[in-house]
Amino acid sequence: TWTMLNIAEEQIERIREQIGDEGRAICGLSGGVDSAVAAAIVQRAIGDRLDCVFVDHGLLRKGEAEQVERDFVAATGVKLHVVDAQQQFLDALAGVTDPEEKRKIIGREFIRSFEGAEAAVLRAAGLGDDTDGGKVAFLVQGTLYPDVVESGGGAGTSNIKSHHNVGGLPDDLEFELVEPLRTLFKDEVRLVGEQLGLPAEIVWRQPFPGPGLGIRIIGEVTADRLEILREADAIAREELTRAGLDRDIWQMPVVLLADVRSVGVQGDGRTYGHPVVIRPVTSEDAMTADWARLPYDVLERISTRITNEVAEVNRVTLDVTSKPPGTIEWE
Ligand code: XMP
Repeated sequence: TWTMLNIAEEQIERIREQIGDEGRAICGLSGGVDSAVAAAIVQRAIGDRLDCVFVDHGLLRKGEAEQVERDFVAATGVKLHVVDAQQQFLDALAGVTDPEEKRKIIGREFIRSFEGAEAAVLRAAGLGDDTDGGKVAFLVQGTLYPDVVESGGGAGTSNIKSHHNVGGLPDDLEFELVEPLRTLFKDEVRLVGEQLGLPAEIVWRQPFPGPGLGIRIIGEVTADRLEILREADAIAREELTRAGLDRDIWQMPVVLLADVRSVGVQGDGRTYGHPVVIRPVTSEDAMTADWARLPYDVLERISTRITNEVAEVNRVTLDVTSKPPGTIEWE
């Protein structure tokens, strides 16, 4: 709509002023809607003085990395640097089953990969060999209005942070935060994203946890298990979309109980496969949630297709726990 166009234009203008005619900015893309819209706004403001970094940690859902690398780039023209860190993450997660441990490892590896790419980008831009101080690079963040309010930061809060110890960059290089979404609510972010021509798959994506599928595999995360979960999750999402329920369901994690096996009978034989759990919930803000009463025929299609199409899965179960007492994620 008209007002949303104004919002987008206003933010683009504000960011253009903040960064100026010479400044350079870096933005990390997560695959989610916030970082995508933030990047698209900054790209409109400063063009190819923006570099985007996408760390492919291999924990995204089916097709999501491609949507960032291909569709998002095609829609916006951003300069994208992809870090293929899949093996690095698998190595770091090997043998780990504790949920908080997984989160810590994924967070740590993510920062390590991102900062490595960031340093390379800045050096290539000539910021790395500056010695006379005072140089500022801009770091784009997809902070939303509710986050701003929650953290007590009003407009005009100084957002300078000194750099976090990346080898090869001068100590006095400072980062100034650029927050194109800091006056917007989530629904406005989506509308601005649509106005800027981003792919619907990104704009209307359900919230997805930073640690990704890593916390939807109960047990150790391995390449094979990720593949199984990715296929099952893709089927569940496809059927939800086909039923026209995407916007009614807040999130629908599919969880692989990788250390559990149950007996089944498929085709001519007995199987001994893994169960998956479907966890559709409705919610306003993820603080509380209700288990979603999905129509039986949708559940049936999800169940039939997953057990037919994903060989390792022979049982589909439904989580009917609200939050509280259950959390939305299983880990
Ligand atoms: P829970 O499972 O606590 O999740 O009910 C609430 C919301 O937060 C998401 N979530 C995360 N997001 N990093 C994230 O960025 C995390 O470690 C994480 N854990 C949970 C979850 O998907 C839900 O939307």
